Amino acid sequence: MSRSDFPYARGRRLRKSENIRRMVSEHNVGAADFIAPLFVVEGKNVKSEIASMPGYHRFSIDLLMREVEEIQSLGIPSVLLFAKVPDDKKDNEGTEALNPEGLMQKTVKAIKKEFPEMVVMTDVALDPYSIYGHDGIVQNDKIVNDESAELLAKMAVSHAEAGADFVAPSDMMDGRILLMREALEENGFYDTGIMAYSAKYASSFYGPFRDALDSAPGFGDKKTYQMDPANVNEAVREAILDEKEGADIIMVKPGLPYLDVVRAVKESVNLPVSVYNVSGEYAMIKAAAKMGWLNEEEAMMETLISFKRAGTDLIATYFAKDAARLL
Ligand code: PBG
Repeated sequence: MSRSDFPYARGRRLRKSENIRRMVSEHNVGAADFIAPLFVVEGKNVKSEIASMPGYHRFSIDLLMREVEEIQSLGIPSVLLFAKVPDDKKDNEGTEALNPEGLMQKTVKAIKKEFPEMVVMTDVALDPYSIYGHDGIVQNDKIVNDESAELLAKMAVSHAEAGADFVAPSDMMDGRILLMREALEENGFYDTGIMAYSAKYASSFYGPFRDALDSAPGFGDKKTYQMDPANVNEAVREAILDEKEGADIIMVKPGLPYLDVVRAVKESVNLPVSVYNVSGEYAMIKAAAKMGWLNEEEAMMETLISFKRAGTDLIATYFAKDAARLL
């Protein structure tokens, strides 16, 4: 190219008007892409705001139904459930996690009864049920893998029995997808899917979530099972393994600091990929907006489209309702 070419190639022609920009837009985000996370607590008539997640609440089952109704009316197809377990029901064996009348199981049944079309996904991990706040069983200060994976497979079956459409193991134990798939098949749950948190990083961005569920690890950290933020090849390896073990959807988590991982995983597996736009990412935007430091709606939409650009198919996000309302 030379100086004489200068006026001919002008990128700004394609940015001239709103309609032209819409015509050449490469990516779209819509309500159908969203998975709305929900926090459920025991009791009646409870709606309590999570301090570190402004605008986000924990609900008792009765009020959660109205929340699900609103989510459905906004065209969001799916919810991802997390149960807040009272301290006196926590132990090191996941006893309450397997209770057919436990809070998670009751919530799944209630939603599927009133909203049979709603796609219900359940978190499978021990941390909300664990006196140690760890995702697996603790023995001699270690989070033991195989015993944990066996237990998590039973937990998945229990959620499937309650009517879950997808179980979503967020624990990062080795081999758990295979054990879960096997257990689901053996119990006749051929249609229950697995959304595997395949590449889940040991991240500081989960802070507000741990407040929401009171599930912070009681000792140590989660670095012996969650991934090192420095790694991307490892994420691809985990995703390929989970695909082989029988996962139906592969998840990367967190979202914004890991867009390159979303891209790498998307190019390595032949399954839908989801990303979890986690609590800390939500809190950052909310806090900055509250200070008047950025425009909340614009920052939210820019964040969501960045996930699509990175190659994700689905987005679990606390912004689901707000974004669907805007769209
Ligand atoms: C626990 C779990 C966590 C999240 C989802 N499932 C926290 C953790 O691993 O400590 C985080 C979600 C969020 O921060 O929004 N198995």
